[in-house]
Amino acid sequence: MISRTNGRPISITGLGCHVPERVVTNDELATIVDTNDEWIRDRTGIRERRIAADTEAMSDLSLPACRRALEMAGVEAHEIDLLIVATVTPDMAFPATAAILADELGMPHAAAYDLSAGCTGFMYAIAQAYGMLSAGLVSRALVVGGDILSRVLDWTDRSTLVLFGDGAGAVVLEPVDRGGFLGFELGADGAGGKELLLPGSGSRLANGASSVLTMNGREVFKFATRVMVSSAEAILDTCGKTVDDVDVYVPHQANIRIIDHAVRKLGFPGEKVVVNVDRYGNTSSGSIPLALADAADDGRLEPGRLVLMTGMGAGLTWGSALIEWTHETTGATA
Ligand code: ACO
Repeated sequence: MISRTNGRPISITGLGCHVPERVVTNDELATIVDTNDEWIRDRTGIRERRIAADTEAMSDLSLPACRRALEMAGVEAHEIDLLIVATVTPDMAFPATAAILADELGMPHAAAYDLSAGCTGFMYAIAQAYGMLSAGLVSRALVVGGDILSRVLDWTDRSTLVLFGDGAGAVVLEPVDRGGFLGFELGADGAGGKELLLPGSGSRLANGASSVLTMNGREVFKFATRVMVSSAEAILDTCGKTVDDVDVYVPHQANIRIIDHAVRKLGFPGEKVVVNVDRYGNTSSGSIPLALADAADDGRLEPGRLVLMTGMGAGLTWGSALIEWTHETTGATA
């Protein structure tokens, strides 16, 4: 799906993020599996990640992020009529984490559901919220992206354990006079699904199906380097923009080598690129909102700036959004 927006202008008016308190360094992981700081930094760019406490679930990480986003937008919880939570690690299969959050936040009028599109979930969710807002079905939406992948990792598998971290981000979407989302590009290649999966997590009862994340790192790497470029090029082309028009590039934070490859191929100067994979690792659906929050906090998300976000992940899925930023959004980290 690739489309230039043609409905009423919709933008991000509030932004919040939250990560667990516990910092786990590469050295600490080296006490658990056979790895070392140098290998992890060299191959991934990751220095440390946040890991949720046993008592923390997805809704717990999301709650402060949502409160911060609402506060920044100046919107009361009860004014939200759509809440989407993009995650592959909900509190439980049902009720939806979104329904739990809607209750905790006090949103009696909100439709609330979870959305599963791997690490691309946040991109899918903002596109969906855009569609419902621009069609007039809802008037204010809250979109959360986040995951607690540490819960589904194999803590004896060094090839996956070192890559991921936990975190969540939230955005408020509302109609605006001008600016906001210019377009979206979303896609899925189910044939590649076998390269990154959590087999024992649903209704398919395979004998001994694993209940931990399984990944073919090399294949996902090849897929990622391809779609991070093709998706960005497609959305820019469809919206009649070029790389030079983009002020802030927010790529999915999976691996610094994937980001560097996309940056080189697309031709972005380093100062336009948001990178926090070193501090958080890959937080899946939390990755792009956490990176947006960093860009907001360091003053890069000024009104009028053109922001390109591209995500990719399990599915295999990918997605980009292009937005002309409209609101002051500093102080996003809760
Ligand atoms: N520490 C030390 N050595 C390791 C580790 C580790 N943590 N992990 C693997 N190795 C070893 C391997 O066993 C292998 O050893 P061998 O040569 O003796 O067999 C060697 O390092 C090289 O392994 P490769 O898999 O070839 O390493 P590569 O350079 O491909 O890097 C990585 C692996 C980092 C996983 C890379 O393939 C990658 O980033 N892939 C994409 C992953 C990704 O982005 N996933 C998430 C996307 S979707 C989402 O966000 C959920």
